[in-house]
Amino acid sequence: MPRMAELVFREATVIDGSGAPGFVADVAVEGDRINAVGSVPPGAREVDARGLVLCPGFIDTHSHDDGAFLRHPDMAFKLAQGVTTDVSGNCGFSTVPNEPGREYMPGDISGPGSSWTDLESYFAACMAKRPAINNLMLVGHNRVRAHVMGLERRAPTADELAEMRGHVARAMEQGAAGLSTGLIYEPGRYAATEEIVALAAEAAPYGGLYVTHMRNEGDRLLEAVDEAIAIAREAGVGLHISHHKAAGRRNWGRVAASLAKADAAHASGTSVTLDVYPYTAGSGPMWQYVNLSAIDREWAEGVMIATCPDYPEFEGRMVPEIAAGRGWTVEEAVREILTSPRGREVICIHFIIDEADIETNLRHPRVFIGSDGIPVLKGNPHPRLFGTMPRVLARYVRERGVVPLEEAVRKMTSAPCERFGIAGRGRVAEGWFADLVLFDPATIEDRATYAAPKQEPQGIRMVVVNGQVAYEDGVHTGAGAGRMLRYRREA
Ligand code: ZN
Ligand code: CU
Repeated sequence: MPRMAELVFREATVIDGSGAPGFVADVAVEGDRINAVGSVPPGAREVDARGLVLCPGFIDTHSHDDGAFLRHPDMAFKLAQGVTTDVSGNCGFSTVPNEPGREYMPGDISGPGSSWTDLESYFAACMAKRPAINNLMLVGHNRVRAHVMGLERRAPTADELAEMRGHVARAMEQGAAGLSTGLIYEPGRYAATEEIVALAAEAAPYGGLYVTHMRNEGDRLLEAVDEAIAIAREAGVGLHISHHKAAGRRNWGRVAASLAKADAAHASGTSVTLDVYPYTAGSGPMWQYVNLSAIDREWAEGVMIATCPDYPEFEGRMVPEIAAGRGWTVEEAVREILTSPRGREVICIHFIIDEADIETNLRHPRVFIGSDGIPVLKGNPHPRLFGTMPRVLARYVRERGVVPLEEAVRKMTSAPCERFGIAGRGRVAEGWFADLVLFDPATIEDRATYAAPKQEPQGIRMVVVNGQVAYEDGVHTGAGAGRMLRYRREA
């Protein structure tokens, strides 16, 4: 006689993550696993799931939460969206390798490091905080390069390159999913293609990935895709392109050409996947996008200030509006904001993406969902940190019918789990880890806006992480059941 299950979802519409049509069934959870799907005997706790969708927990394939696991272990902004696993360490920024106490870069979006040195000790520091959700890591090229050679604008010496390779290899051995780059950022932009090939090759013995914020996402998008494909091919690894977009009005529509290149490479043996966020604005450290001696006025006119320690009154306002209020030109406003004492900590939101390109991306079968949210909770952060997953399900599935619900769930669950080596997760099936989301498909909706981002979504009834109820009807239970995941290993 089997033990009574701890948690039973009764008559849920199960969307199992595979892309198959939903079906009505009971789902039982015992320990950290799903132990039955079908018709199950009474459990210790019964949840009436009639009319609700039960699916695997969502994977945020593009997060910058590696520092947030320590600063905000409740991970409230992700958990309330149904995210049960983050892929962190993106865009070349990661918390490893780390020299305790060293500040690597002003305004480093992964946050300052303290006690840890490598992935193992970082994972231990995170687990001591009892995080609410799971975390898988990439090792970031910007961090590796800064660790070994600071912000030097030159190629590495042979010794420096060997040391950098050692850091990538060590992170891979300890469970990283691959190498990430941010080739528009300092210091990644000083790296030639060969340097990246040499580092990405360290992921090859593990079957790991090359994950890239490409060198260009605007006028030279297609050349940047060519470079990314060449790097992956020469290094012998799979390629994952981050936050795929064609930035700037004159480039809108070019994501179709870029996806065609990705498909051609995929067909010829270099696997290619991508991610997208469902918003027309990007966000990041403002100083990284601006050349103060040639400020791009068209770009600046589409910029909103998210976080600005020296001018908190600018937060949530567009640059032209700020300029008009102070009697500045747009260029003067940008200069003033960036040259203020804490100007390097300024985070901006820039409206650079075409709505139709988002839909083109979402329709592609190998495009996953990644929030790219920056977990700086002061000021007025980009709403994607709070609303990404529900926004896909509300706006692009229910309202516009861009992709069917089962396909959207697949993009958020089994597909990224297979790609990122998240073993034993991403399906609602017997024996799989019990990372689950219960939501109402008729009412699920993001509520975070540019004007008021810090609002939890509606329509998410329950989120289960490793068998524990982590979130229920707006309440964060503090279960702290998240785990540090290692590439292709069950944990
Ligand atoms: Zn990026
Ligand atoms: Cu990013």
